[in-house]
Amino acid sequence: IEVKDVTFSYDANLDVLHNLNLSVESGETIAIVGPSGSGKSTLAKGLAAALGYIYIDTGALYRAIGLFAARHGVSAESPEDVVPLLPLMDLQMRLENGGNAVYLDGVRLGEEIRTSSASHYASQVSKVPEVRAFLLETQRNIAKTNNGIMDGRDIGTVILPDAQVKLFMVASPEARAKRRFEELKARGIETSLEEVLADMKWRDNNDS
Ligand code: DC
Repeated sequence: IEVKDVTFSYDANLDVLHNLNLSVESGETIAIVGPSGSGKSTLAKGLAAALGYIYIDTGALYRAIGLFAARHGVSAESPEDVVPLLPLMDLQMRLENGGNAVYLDGVRLGEEIRTSSASHYASQVSKVPEVRAFLLETQRNIAKTNNGIMDGRDIGTVILPDAQVKLFMVASPEARAKRRFEELKARGIETSLEEVLADMKWRDNNDS
């Protein structure tokens, strides 16, 4: 991607994409990295639409494992207990309408993986090395078979170290919390800005 004279600020809306001079060869991958709420998925979806790429939301896979752990009575404070259960897990990522849908035990996951409790579980299970190893091949395979834009924490370093384009998104915790709060509100998930900000700070630390 050739980006000309564009400053991508947190508050910019995606109209900025029309000012980008984009040209990407086929078979390439784009990695978008950054902390929670920094706008990775918004940018990834916009770029995917602009370039005809598939958007791959890797966080949804960790969220699905968090949900699976919760459903099997694993405490969020001992996430490693999910490891012996992983072989029982029927987890699939399917490409639908230019994006990805995650299926757990044959059922498509929706808003239940976006709640504050689901975010907490996802962050906790993502610290477990066996969980990361479990998802490694799944993520690489999806990227290998598609022109993909992937977002997530380790996409540029571990999953797609050879991605042709790597973008790192940053924004203050307050700006990210405000953004996440608005997103949750629009989805009908009840919470407060203070709670979202506290969650965000906790996750920054835990994810790092
Ligand atoms: O991007 P997200 O908020 O949906 O991610 C949920 C959690 O999953 C996040 O707290 C950290 C983890 N995660 C990860 O460890 N590696 C990734 N590539 C994506 C997400």
